[in-house]
Amino acid sequence: MSDDDFLRLPTGISGLDQMMEGGFPFPSTVLVAGPAGTGKTTFSLQFLAEGVRQGQQGLFFTTLSEPTQWMLRFIGRYKFIDKEAFGRQIKYVELGPVLREATSHAQVLDFIEDQIAEVMPQRIVVDPVSVIGDLVPGNYRTFLYDLTTRLKNWQATTVLTGEVLPDQLYPIEVSYIADAVVLLTYGISQEGARRKYLEILKMRGTNHATGRHLVDTSAKGFSVQAGLR
Ligand SMILES: Nc1ncnc2c1ncn2[C@@H]1O[C@H](COP(=O)(O)OP(=O)(O)OP(=O)(O)O)[C@@H](O)[C@H]1O
Ligand SMILES: [Mg+2]
Repeated sequence: MSDDDFLRLPTGISGLDQMMEGGFPFPSTVLVAGPAGTGKTTFSLQFLAEGVRQGQQGLFFTTLSEPTQWMLRFIGRYKFIDKEAFGRQIKYVELGPVLREATSHAQVLDFIEDQIAEVMPQRIVVDPVSVIGDLVPGNYRTFLYDLTTRLKNWQATTVLTGEVLPDQLYPIEVSYIADAVVLLTYGISQEGARRKYLEILKMRGTNHATGRHLVDTSAKGFSVQAGLR
């Protein structure tokens, strides 16, 4: 495959795209993992907001069942995303009720596929995917495998966010099925302060930056300061 055939989706996150040859491979499955507050949801929303700027459709699955109104309150605080885009170019779907009521993997996967068929998104987010393990009937690993296989058939790049405990790097089950793993961590900076960091752990087919890079999360979104430790 020549480089021309290897498509990428820019994240629109300041500092990040140049660390990975211009963006996430398309189609692919990307795990963005980190403890509470490291910016997983902000990162995911920026990825979808960049899609809107490029005229693409986005689909945001929440597994926490945060009501739309609740989510919109937070989104209204971000300066990088247009609240009006929600419901139009970005569809917001609660997966919680389906996960709790389903008696088989197929029911959950069919529901997800119905949503995708309706929207035909280039960019999909499942936030956080780690909750699914506690809710889905049957074997979690098999479910994750089936989910990513189906998502790729739909020609989309999917960001799966993974919650971890502070001493954990990433959810191991999800890392197996992901084409890329991006870690968001807390660490102590060279000045001795606790700061947030991003590290690209793996990205198939991509010459990417390594090591940890300082991150800033604010109302303007998530930004990466390449080279700063
Ligand atoms: N509107 C905002 N203005 C300033 N800072 C913000 C804003 N929104 C988010 N942040 C910063 O980003 C941090 C993380 O946000 P985010 O919700 O994306 O993290 P998360 O990893 O998804 O957390 P969780 O695991 O709890 O879901 C906040 O704790 C805050 O420091
Ligand atoms: Mg979150």
